[in-house]
Amino acid sequence: MYHQAKSVLESDSALLKIYKKFPIEFAYGNGVFLYDKSGDKYLDFLSGIAVTGFGHSHPAIKKAVEEQLNSLWHTSNLFESSSQQILADKLAEVSGLEKVFFSNSGTEANEAAIKFARKFGEEKTTIITAVGSFHGRTMGSLSASAQVKLWNGFRPLTPGFKYVAFNDADALRHSITDDVCAVMLEPIQGEGGIVVPAPNYLKEVEAICKENNLLLILDEVQTGMGRTGKFFAHQWFDIQPDIITIAKGIANGLPLGATIISPKVAVKIQAGDHGSTFGGNPVSVAAAIAVMNMLSEDVLNQISNSGTYLINELKKLKSLFIKDVRGLGLMIGIEFSDTITNSQIVEALLAKKVVVYQAGRNTVRLLPPYTIDRAHISHFIQTFKSVLNDLHLE
Ligand SMILES: Cc1ncc(COP(=O)(O)O)c(C=O)c1O
Repeated sequence: MYHQAKSVLESDSALLKIYKKFPIEFAYGNGVFLYDKSGDKYLDFLSGIAVTGFGHSHPAIKKAVEEQLNSLWHTSNLFESSSQQILADKLAEVSGLEKVFFSNSGTEANEAAIKFARKFGEEKTTIITAVGSFHGRTMGSLSASAQVKLWNGFRPLTPGFKYVAFNDADALRHSITDDVCAVMLEPIQGEGGIVVPAPNYLKEVEAICKENNLLLILDEVQTGMGRTGKFFAHQWFDIQPDIITIAKGIANGLPLGATIISPKVAVKIQAGDHGSTFGGNPVSVAAAIAVMNMLSEDVLNQISNSGTYLINELKKLKSLFIKDVRGLGLMIGIEFSDTITNSQIVEALLAKKVVVYQAGRNTVRLLPPYTIDRAHISHFIQTFKSVLNDLHLE
């Protein structure tokens, strides 16, 4: 404990050393590439953790943001905003849901979902979430995130959460008691290690929720906004949730979160039940409208095709040290055997100017921009191969 506290204070800077940062500072980005201060070029296969889906400095998004910056930055949610209404209408349409609440981040989108579920449940206040899940760092979302390592030092947790194994419909069925109002899941667990559920799992969860009058809340913060090749990942599984939360990719790098709800939830919410000073600020909303306008069927198909191609190329690399390659669209995990750690691979790739990151289960996570082409994929595969070679893992 003391050791940890000391290391946070070791830095000369006043910046709290709460993130383990790589010793690289990027100066600018263009499309799929990032450039550091000395001008070195990096292939960005992380997109700022599933955020800059359309790459860096995209002209259409830049134009929308510049226009908004030249007119109005902030007025608060005390006044009308036709751009918020336009974005909300678009999100309602693509989700099959009805009303949208805007916040600034994934964790806030989930806090709103938790509050709305409790309002819906009335005296039923418990929400079931999945082991290995990640829903954010604020106390409600943290308590929903079933990973003990995130909780240590921050107890007591917010009461009213119950945890079941992911990808196990029977476990869910058996955990339902009279106090449960909702089930909250990531359609694919992201931070947990790109854990893709069995094809029928989410359909079974939907049925269990219907039978028991429980809300199905899907946290699409990482999987949404086209990342998997559908607008929302759950659309691969032919289900209809009652609440969807999104953030990350929604405004291509500007802070924005959204909680999208069905009429049966909306009818329980009254003015004043929740709020945010910055939520849905005009600049982020302008960027998000530009993103929504670009997320066409063609782009979604391109994401899906690039993802399938990349996964297949990775599967061709037969290394005893690669345990699994999995994912959907451009959300891909490469799981390694215990002889090597995912962080060693991440660092080796970074040394060769390719940016990726790790996730749970000794997994390396690839979240490239939607705009990657075959040449970028080939660049990645060649670099990855040379890393395996250097580390004698081929
Ligand atoms: C599925 C999921 N939910 C919520 C969050 C939290 O989002 P934020 O960091 O914007 O609060 C994340 C972030 O990684 C996430 O992956």
